[in-house]
Amino acid sequence: MKVCVVGSGGREHALAAVLGRHHEVVVTPGSPGIPGSVGTPPEQIDADLFVIGPEAPLVDGLADRLRAAGRLVFGPGADGARLEGSKAWMKEVLVEAGVPTAAHGTFTDLDPALAFLATMAPPFVVKTDGLAAGKGVVVTDSLDEARAAVGDYLSGEAFGDAGRTVVIEEGLTGPELSILAVCDGTRAVALAPAQDFKRVGDGDAGPNTGGMGAYSPVPVAGDDVVEMVMRDAVEPTLAALRARGIDYRGVLYAGLMLTPAGPKVLEYNVRFGDPETQVVLPRMTSDLGALLAAAAAGAIEEAPTFDDGAAVTVVCAAEGYPRQVRSGDAIEGLDEARALEGVSVFCAGVGAGADGRLVTAGGRVLAVTGQAATIAEARARAYEGVARLSWPGLHHRTDIAAGQ
Ligand code: AMP
Ligand code: GLY
Repeated sequence: MKVCVVGSGGREHALAAVLGRHHEVVVTPGSPGIPGSVGTPPEQIDADLFVIGPEAPLVDGLADRLRAAGRLVFGPGADGARLEGSKAWMKEVLVEAGVPTAAHGTFTDLDPALAFLATMAPPFVVKTDGLAAGKGVVVTDSLDEARAAVGDYLSGEAFGDAGRTVVIEEGLTGPELSILAVCDGTRAVALAPAQDFKRVGDGDAGPNTGGMGAYSPVPVAGDDVVEMVMRDAVEPTLAALRARGIDYRGVLYAGLMLTPAGPKVLEYNVRFGDPETQVVLPRMTSDLGALLAAAAAGAIEEAPTFDDGAAVTVVCAAEGYPRQVRSGDAIEGLDEARALEGVSVFCAGVGAGADGRLVTAGGRVLAVTGQAATIAEARARAYEGVARLSWPGLHHRTDIAAGQ
């Protein structure tokens, strides 16, 4: 089968690598760091299956346009992608489906928003309704900071129109978990669970990012937890979507918190997680392309299988990330890192320098995945790979999967 992956980040590199075990793969637009990248837009590519990586083209209806042209597409239409495109709508669907989630209020005006905030207890949680590249969430113990975020969001100053509606939530506590379910419109199968590290600094210090590292499997999330999440969250959500006439074929990624009162959904994403994909997919032992094609055709027959080992990925970021980043620095040590046993390096924000070598071109530059029998060994391998890499201002967390 010829598979076309749409996107250009570390997630798409991992998708292409794992799809490439069984299929021919092209990636658009891809990047100088992703083999098989082509400049041709997806609409002009002839492929048996299209897999759309990022949320923005999904929210923008790329899956609908490709399907209208008779293509087999893995990824929801704009109707289903609204789950990620609007947190306010997502909360409405969750409440309707009876899925456990944080109590919340949705606001477009400052005074009622601040009045609601004043009734909440810390930690205060303020989110943009619209897409903000994983950065539109403030979790803080400071009421002043939360009030300031509400003001900056609603005025449009912080995130433009994405912030003109805000969701204010009850603060939850507990370990976080990402469950990625592959859906065919009616049925859903879970991939191996992963845990993501959202904050930029060690010990969860600093601002939220798109994700600084991840590992899989997750010891606190046994089969019982995965089954509970599928039964109490994913399946009712798919049914609620169907009841609204939405035929959801793609990944439904549940971002969960394992609270003392049980798992609660923090958010849904409508695509593979980044960097969760860089640990979940390398562990897959069944044919990813066959699964995604079956889901795209509305007929999943078999659940995927995963190895008994572990994978840990560490994101190497450019100076300044998640704020203003510096780009154009030569990436050193890529070949040395890749030569290590059990180490894969996935390219995210990379470009081609004048001499043809890869240079930094984005916030999250590389994701270094280690695989081994245990999480501790996989972690050691990932960090051995990271130690080979350098560019001015490279930073990464040192505590990904520590103590697991
Ligand atoms: P989201 O993009 O909605 O997943 O939020 C990003 C991150 O903010 C999550 O991974 C959590 O670490 C944190 N977060 C979001 N919602 C809550 C909440 N209701 N309570 C506590 N932390 C939260
Ligand atoms: N790792 C978080 C996300 O993909 O949204």
